[in-house]
Amino acid sequence: MSQATNQSWGGRFSEPTDAFVERFTASVDFDQRLALQDIQGSVAHATMLARVGVLTDEERDAIVAGLTEIRGEIERGAFQWSVALEDVHMNIEARLTDKIGITGKKLHTGRSRNDQVATDIRLFLRDEIDVVEAELIRLREGLIELADREAGTIMPGFTHLQTAQPVTFGHHLLAWQEMLARDHERLLDCRGRVNVMPLGAAALAGTTYPIDRHVTAELLGFSRPAENSLDAVSDRDFAIEFTAFASILLMHLSRMSEELVLWTSAQFDFIDLPDRFCTGSSIMPQKKNPDVPELVRGKTGRVYGHLIGLLTLMKSQPLAYNKDNQEDKEPLFDTLDTARDCLKAFADMVPAITPRKASMLDAARRGFSTATDLADYLVRRGVAFRDAHEIVGQSVAFGLREGKDLSEMSLGELKQFSDIIEEDVFDVLTLEGSVAARNHIGGTAPNQVRAAAQRAREALAALSSSNPGSQA
Ligand code: ARG
Repeated sequence: MSQATNQSWGGRFSEPTDAFVERFTASVDFDQRLALQDIQGSVAHATMLARVGVLTDEERDAIVAGLTEIRGEIERGAFQWSVALEDVHMNIEARLTDKIGITGKKLHTGRSRNDQVATDIRLFLRDEIDVVEAELIRLREGLIELADREAGTIMPGFTHLQTAQPVTFGHHLLAWQEMLARDHERLLDCRGRVNVMPLGAAALAGTTYPIDRHVTAELLGFSRPAENSLDAVSDRDFAIEFTAFASILLMHLSRMSEELVLWTSAQFDFIDLPDRFCTGSSIMPQKKNPDVPELVRGKTGRVYGHLIGLLTLMKSQPLAYNKDNQEDKEPLFDTLDTARDCLKAFADMVPAITPRKASMLDAARRGFSTATDLADYLVRRGVAFRDAHEIVGQSVAFGLREGKDLSEMSLGELKQFSDIIEEDVFDVLTLEGSVAARNHIGGTAPNQVRAAAQRAREALAALSSSNPGSQA
């Protein structure tokens, strides 16, 4: 074979690839990240080919031994990657042939790079999903434990970022936890669709060899072979789906980040983040900046970008494989790295959050946060809700003029607005009374928060153990 043309497909070519085109079309710089999965897939393919009699046992053994050596070279960083060999698949196959001679050239029997690459990405993504899941579990556990600890810590709850009603800090943390519980379900649901095997689809139509796709699927731990060969080589829904999961996850993390940034400010002063998660300013000596949540908030943008990128990559693509699909890897890899790192940062940081309880309590007291409780008190004594709303509105206006919270007014002052009000009103006007009264599933009462934390622990354990790939 001519040295001037690519050894894998150069047979029908009469001149070598243009040097720029060679670099332009190569993917080895980034797809070498799939190397271990590529070898895993090849070992399974060769094993299956021997089982159905397309390769001899000796040929299979030589291939598996060669690939095992190559894996060692890659892990040691001793493998020489060549752009002239285009991608990870041809680099490894060429090295195999260097090592074991002609038998190496038999590995590609009944296979194409089209089903090979689709298989590699799915194996890779499946492994990485399990790593992402482990960080997500750690973060959920951290939130649940902190929420349980802070089940009775009172803070203002907000709507429109205006003080609305008192809630407990534990309740707020469990709201975050619920967002992540849905993300966790989406991740495992996505994993189920990732875990389907394209191998055997060959270039697009299947192969004439008597392959047994159930054998390969089982060797690789896939739940089943993909049903349709055309779809198997062209489908990248699974990458889009993972990126959609990651976009929603990052959206959630950005919301948590935003609150952490607000809460660490002098204006809120609700929490303290340990110094190890913050940085200083080179000019303002007093500064302690919440860089970790800020950066997570910022990284949300790149993940959204990858989602749009992948959707656009697939838009209008005719069946079956097109070279466009080579562009799926970098956005997917970056999405994986970003999601994993942001989860890790949060999982490390959350247990170290310290609430400034006095400051939270003070803020809850300042915003007339028990106004609804006073209205509910009047309703229980027979006042229509709209009239009660009006009475409390007048009381708040008085409080604003006098600089007093409702709980700080005397009974006489309150009675100016309704003589139905009696001494027992102070039970509902205190912040503790207010949160304790929201005593139903999903409410902010401390005992409800503790019960919710327990249910969350159980739901997390059940979901985690439903992943066949989880380490637990
Ligand atoms: N590097 C290619 C990719 O990432 C591998 C498949 C190439 N197949 C082909 N027929 N050119 O998609």
